[in-house]
Formats: sequence, C-alpha cells, structure tokens
Amino acid sequence: MWRTCVALVAFAFISCIMSAQEQSKTKNPQQAAPAEYKIPEGDAKKPNPVKSTPASIADGKHLYDSQCAMCHGADGDGKGDLAADMKLKLRDLRDPETLKDSTDGELFYILSKGKGDMPGEEDRLSETQRWNLVNYMRSLASKAPPAKTPETKAAPADSKPKDDKPKDSKPPR
Ligand code: HEC
Repeated sequence: MWRTCVALVAFAFISCIMSAQEQSKTKNPQQAAPAEYKIPEGDAKKPNPVKSTPASIADGKHLYDSQCAMCHGADGDGKGDLAADMKLKLRDLRDPETLKDSTDGELFYILSKGKGDMPGEEDRLSETQRWNLVNYMRSLASKAPPAKTPETKAAPADSKPKDDKPKDSKPPR
C-alpha cells in the first residue's frame, strides 16, 4: 500500500514536470508554425468568369512564361531558376493532385495576393489575365502524365525509324 502511494506521488510529480515542459514549448510564438493561409470564403467561391477557351489558355501560357516560369518551371514542374536560387520548394503544377482541392477562386486569390514567397500580381495583371492564368494552370494538370511515375525521356535518339527494311519484305529466291 505504502509503495503504491509513493509510486503514485512520483508519477504525479513526473507528469507535472512533463506537462510544464510541454507548455513552455507551445508558448514560444516564434517557433510556432506560421499562421494558416486563409482565403476568404467569398473569394474561394468566386466563379471563374473566363471560359477556358484555347485563346484564354494561350494568353495564360504567355503570361506564365514571363511571370511565373522562373519559379514554377517552364512546364510547371516547380524547378524554375529563381526557385532554385531562393531555395523554394514548389509543388508540381502538372500533378493533378496539386490543385485538385483548390477552387478557381482560390487560385485567383493566391496569384492576386501572393502567398509566402510568391508575389501577388494584382497590380500588374488585369483580372482577365489572372483568370487566363488559372485556366492555363488547370490545363497543365489535365495534360499531366500519370502522377508519380519517374520521368522518362521520350524515345531514345538512336531508335531507328521502322521503315529501314526493304519495302519488299519477301525473301529473294
Ligand atoms: C518568386 C517565385 C514565384 C513566382 C514568380 C510565382 N510563384 Fe507561385 N508560388 C511560389 C511559392 C513559394 C509558392 C508556395 C507558397 C506557399 O505555399 O507558401 C507558390 C504557390 C503558388 C500556387 C499555389 C499552389 C501551391 O503550389 O501551393 C499557385 C496556384 C501559384 N503559385 C501560381 C503562380 C502563378 C500563376 C505565377 C505567375 C503569375 C506565380 N505563381 C509566380 C513562388 C512563386
């Protein structure tokens, strides 16, 4: 009985110390994860007023090449030169998973206001231009090869064209 008591007191003491440590950890606001990026609901639900036509996507691509590719990579792989310089880790926009859970309104908001190390384009691009970019990014994902397969280069250069056999395939007799 006496022993159980001692053990209980010891246990209470130890857990008291542990919870105090736990608290002092969470009390340091600088170490805490950055505040969650919140997109106002109205913005997230904003419908895309620009139809994803070939013209819209083409304009989006044009803008993307000059404004975004240095970070997000020429084809959306997230490996642009500037991203490498800044040591940014960017997600692969070609992977359908990347933007799957984002609405067009959310993407529009992100590229208008910026996010983290990404500058907002609100002052430099018109609304239509930003929606065109959204349409272009969507087109990247839908064109993507099945996700997560290691990248393989297209047919090796040394593969011979099929028709190097003589046209007349009958063996000479
Ligand atoms: C300076 C580099 C930089 C440039 C330029 C840039 N981005 Fe980004 N972008 C980022 C970073 C970094 C993130 C991740 C932000 C985060 O989650 O903190 C990001 C995130 C995004 C996201 C959200 C999806 C995700 O991966 O989290 C979209 C969409 C996006 N960028 C589109 C664009 C478009 C379109 C442009 C061109 C108008 C652009 N970005 C230009 C750096 C950049």
